[in-house]
Amino acid sequence: MVGRLRLWSGYVLLAYVTTHLLNHALGLISLRVIEAGRLWFVFVWQSLPGQVVLYGALTLHFSLALWAIVRRRSLHLSAWEWTQLGLGMSIVPLAALHAVATRVAHDYYGVQSGYPWVLASLASSGWWGIARQFSLPFVVWIHACIGLHFAWRLRPWYRDWLPVLYAIALLVPAAGVAGAAIALRDMLEMAQVPGFLRDVFDKVHAPNASTAAELYMIADTLAGGALVLLAAAFAARPVRDYWERRAGVVHLAYSDRKRVDRAAGLSVLEMSRIAGIPHASVCGGRGRCSTCRVRVGGPDRAKLPPPSPEEQKVLTRVGAPENVRLACQLRPPPGRYRITPLLPATSGPVEAYRRQPQAHGGERYVAILFADIRGFTSISEGRLPYDVVFLLNRYFRATGQAVQAAGGRLDKFIGDGVMAIFGLDREPEVACRQALDAARRMSLALEDLNEALSGDLDQPLRIGIGLHAGPAIVGEMGYDRAASLTAIGDTVNTASRLETLTKEFKVELVVSQELIDRAGADLSAAPMHEVDIRGRQGKLAVRAVVSARDLTALSS
Ligand code: FES
Repeated sequence: MVGRLRLWSGYVLLAYVTTHLLNHALGLISLRVIEAGRLWFVFVWQSLPGQVVLYGALTLHFSLALWAIVRRRSLHLSAWEWTQLGLGMSIVPLAALHAVATRVAHDYYGVQSGYPWVLASLASSGWWGIARQFSLPFVVWIHACIGLHFAWRLRPWYRDWLPVLYAIALLVPAAGVAGAAIALRDMLEMAQVPGFLRDVFDKVHAPNASTAAELYMIADTLAGGALVLLAAAFAARPVRDYWERRAGVVHLAYSDRKRVDRAAGLSVLEMSRIAGIPHASVCGGRGRCSTCRVRVGGPDRAKLPPPSPEEQKVLTRVGAPENVRLACQLRPPPGRYRITPLLPATSGPVEAYRRQPQAHGGERYVAILFADIRGFTSISEGRLPYDVVFLLNRYFRATGQAVQAAGGRLDKFIGDGVMAIFGLDREPEVACRQALDAARRMSLALEDLNEALSGDLDQPLRIGIGLHAGPAIVGEMGYDRAASLTAIGDTVNTASRLETLTKEFKVELVVSQELIDRAGADLSAAPMHEVDIRGRQGKLAVRAVVSARDLTALSS
């Protein structure tokens, strides 16, 4: 709720700033047009509803920013977060004089606070005043853009819209500042005429010296007050830490033997950050991305509070088991816990939205396919490296498309071999039918490939395919960007062994009877063999199929 309020109050302020800058952009046309545009701007934002919404949003956004500083346990922020925080903190001090010189001067001192007044004031204020005024739109705009980027970057549409948003992010402030600069240049030129500025000030009922001093004092009080509140928010943090330390200590043991002991009240992500332990957090700890998820164990796991509805929604989305929590949302009570981050620290938005319920590891009945090009070493001998890569890529594309068309998941390419998994999200029967279908499609694809490459190859490519089904350990394995969902175990080893048996039986496909039975297929025409598989007790019944393309098309 707090995050949402902060975002929506930010949207209101952004709407105000955008219309203000667009009004400035009219200065590219003329001083008269920019002033005419201001009437519309004032009509919207100085109406009663406009003022309620604007000042309500301003108060809310600033208060929630202060609250976020108090609540934030760690100041180990990324460079972008520091930039956004620093810019946000400088907005009120920078904008105070402009706001007072226009709104307060108009409402309480009768000043006609349109463009003539502002531009004439700037023309007489010197370069420091001009620099301060022109830096304000950039400070506000960059602060807003970083905030929007963090808020939107996980939305599915964001990537598609990025070029458009990027163009808007550049054009709006550029046009606004250019318009204001040209209007100011015109004013500076006119100010060369003796008495011109005095006439403008008379017309707009500019404040006299004592009124101006009062306005400066109000602006300084506003700016100083904002800085005092910011300082108070930072100063409240150690006080909060002191009270929380009285509540007890949380001991976290990480999987890489690192340990963190802190007062209760921190989230696991905050404790990781404080201890300098790299931890993925694509959404910046807002509980939206799931990249910070950790497996929690340890003697006091039962003491953990249940996930909030928001946290539960994200955990359900990624299919997390009961012992997995979002590190940014979990604030463990005093006790001892074992923490295992589940995603690499460098995980990005793609990982956040990758929905792989099996990623945390578990046993599942799957069908495994291994395929390998027969005699590839002799085929590649004497060929240029470029030709070998070209040939392999054509083969990988053909086999990869066959696996995907059958509904399987390409697991990996190893040399000239391929491993595919079926059944990650389907029932065993369907998985086995898909695996047989993939073998048939691969064989047909190879036939097409051989025809296409007939002029380049001395002999057609031949493959051996091994298929087996059974329980396997499925989970995301690897390190950093090399981590991916895969399967390991006896079933995988057996499928690989069946692929090597294709050479011995001089056939294209060796498939276990287990898989055939599960698929409900009839391959009784193919000879059956009882084979020994290393590391496996008893014999395994398999069928040797001369040509996989002759398998009846099996659909899932
Ligand atoms: S950091 Fe994104 S959900 Fe925790």
